[in-house]
Amino acid sequence: MKPTHKLLFVLCPMLVLGFIYYSSGKLHLNVWGQKPLKDVGTSVSVNVTVTKANQNQAKAKAVKEPEVDSIVSVGRIVGSVYDKQGFLVKLDGKLPPELVYQYGNLSEGACKPGYAAAKMTAIYPKFVKPAPMFLDRNFKRLAKVSNYLPPFGFKTQERIIDVILAATKNYGLGPDLDSLSCKRCVIVGNGGILANKSLGSRIDEYDVVVRLNEAPVSGYTKDVGTKTTMRITYPEGAIQKAERYEKDSLFVFSAFKPLDFKWLRQMVFKERLQGVEGFWKSVAHQVPREPSEIRILNPYFIQEAAFQFIGLPLNNGLMGKGNIPTLGTVAITMALHNCDEVAVAGFGYDMSTPHAPLHYYETVKMSAIKESWTHNISKEKEFLRKLVKANVITDLTNGI
Ligand SMILES: *[C@@H]1O[C@H](CO)[C@@H](O)[C@H](O)[C@H]1NC(C)=O
Ligand SMILES: *[C@@H]1O[C@H](CO)[C@@H](O)[C@H](O)[C@H]1NC(C)=O
Ligand SMILES: *[C@@H]1O[C@H](CO)[C@@H](O)[C@H](O)[C@H]1NC(C)=O
Repeated sequence: MKPTHKLLFVLCPMLVLGFIYYSSGKLHLNVWGQKPLKDVGTSVSVNVTVTKANQNQAKAKAVKEPEVDSIVSVGRIVGSVYDKQGFLVKLDGKLPPELVYQYGNLSEGACKPGYAAAKMTAIYPKFVKPAPMFLDRNFKRLAKVSNYLPPFGFKTQERIIDVILAATKNYGLGPDLDSLSCKRCVIVGNGGILANKSLGSRIDEYDVVVRLNEAPVSGYTKDVGTKTTMRITYPEGAIQKAERYEKDSLFVFSAFKPLDFKWLRQMVFKERLQGVEGFWKSVAHQVPREPSEIRILNPYFIQEAAFQFIGLPLNNGLMGKGNIPTLGTVAITMALHNCDEVAVAGFGYDMSTPHAPLHYYETVKMSAIKESWTHNISKEKEFLRKLVKANVITDLTNGI
């Protein structure tokens, strides 16, 4: 046979097969559940056919698979044990036997290495601990955040982040804290529940004290302590009076929109602030910190808190109604990955006491809290309650 005949000889049955496959695909493809004839890529027409069949199958799969999954999970495997988010349904504060053994020899009150992550994994098996606190010069290797726009990732902001990180030159907590074999962290929320509880000295005992936005220390030290390891902030939340920045603390930046990175660059390079139209309230015009004291929080914590832990709407990975976690929950998520023990204080709104103060440093009342467009406080609280109930975190003020 001539080569052209040979080709036709092979091609014709394939075209026929492709056609049969395509038409049958409309009817049965999802039942077969197998890959189409991928290697039949020798002629244009066959290619088109296969592509169509592929699309059909993809569609059929998209419709079919969740159904199969849910039948399996409800019926046999996970349905009765884990909730929709993947957390154990029956939570208690008991230590799993392997941890009882592991921590059995520690003296009372000693820091337990790996405790928070181990307890988290016990109630949420999907938990994977490694996730750096801050972005460093290799940040582009962080696959989970490179494909999301802010606030869930850094896509489109790579160049400006490169410029900022080249200037800050530091990407950790500092040699003393980084070398600790067991770190205890406390996240100090801004809730009024912190007022008049004299928890200051207890908070200061933690290795890492995390504060949020402009929550003041001076004037409130009896209740909130004196130590600040880091202050996590977005532009609208940053302290505006230069004299109110405490020394020896890290300025940790958390971005919620692309514009925020531009603001940070101007702060790092001490440039005159320009382009403030996109902010929802006034922002600081300067941050009196050296570049070496500035860090960028890994946006993975926003992504993981929103979509995995709390279960907020994905909205194609874009910021949308009610899908942004509050900064406090983002900080807790960061701590679960980077601290051995995690405590919180000043978290939780008690709506049954409308005259109680909303923040420990203001007279604004609880009743002033508005229905939030960006956050979903009730869903977020469900998540935090799981952590407290299972003793993954310790709630010093019992507000969660
Ligand atoms: C605890 O101490 C006992 C006795 O000293 C020892 O046999 C055991 O291996 C220790 N357990 C751990 C987890 O270190
Ligand atoms: C805390 O104590 C001060 C002084 O006693 C009082 O004025 C304030 O109302 C108290 N705040 C709360 C939240 O109880
Ligand atoms: C919060 O989540 C609940 C449950 O999914 C939903 O009904 C409610 O509309 C959400 N609220 C906001 C502000 O998105």
